[in-house]
Amino acid sequence: MSKITKGPQPWLCPMPALLIGATVNGKPTFMTVAWGGVANGEPPMVSLAIRPARHTLLGIRANSEFSVNVASASQAREVDHCGVVSGARADKVAQCGFSVFYRKLSTAPLIEQCPVNLECSVEQIIELKSHCLVIGRVVETHVTDNCLSADGLIDFEKTDPLVFLDNPTGKYFRLGAFAADAFSVGLELR
Ligand SMILES: Cc1cc2nc3c(=O)[nH]c(=O)nc-3n(C[C@H](O)[C@H](O)[C@H](O)COP(=O)(O)O)c2cc1C
Repeated sequence: MSKITKGPQPWLCPMPALLIGATVNGKPTFMTVAWGGVANGEPPMVSLAIRPARHTLLGIRANSEFSVNVASASQAREVDHCGVVSGARADKVAQCGFSVFYRKLSTAPLIEQCPVNLECSVEQIIELKSHCLVIGRVVETHVTDNCLSADGLIDFEKTDPLVFLDNPTGKYFRLGAFAADAFSVGLELR
């Protein structure tokens, strides 16, 4: 097997397709973020890499609150719209037909149509080079009732999360086939 060296690239795959909510000038707005992930376990924290110029970042900085809305595969159109249009020039909530609700945090708008919603308070914003790394502590989690399993856990087959692949041109997918049981298949090599 030969390897072709490609220089430094952030080629992790897959990436989530997240709708990040914030309040800017008193109004809810959402942007798409694919460069997001889990940052800490206890307490639960998430991280988002956001370019400094994003309109949504104004609200995150001003209120120190934001939401993470995990989109399902059926919401590709809305996710893409929130990723190509700026809230500085458009009302994305109206254009996407989002039903917005609030729970614990008054400036972290949540999208009813997304199966999973996280309310987050800003823990830290690290100014990197091209992006700001926003680290948020998850204050509360909401899951659409029919996306839970019988034992009350989240069922990702039911949430049907939208997945983003950067290369070659940017495409959305849904999760693929089951591969193996985690924390157990590896024991076969003991
Ligand atoms: C699939 C997809 C993923 C994106 N991921 C990010 C991201 O991780 N970070 C970022 O700063 N912008 C990302 N963008 C671009 C922003 O969502 C886009 O610039 C958006 O219009 C910003 O909205 P705002 O100006 O209202 O905040 C992504 C766009 C798409 C379509």
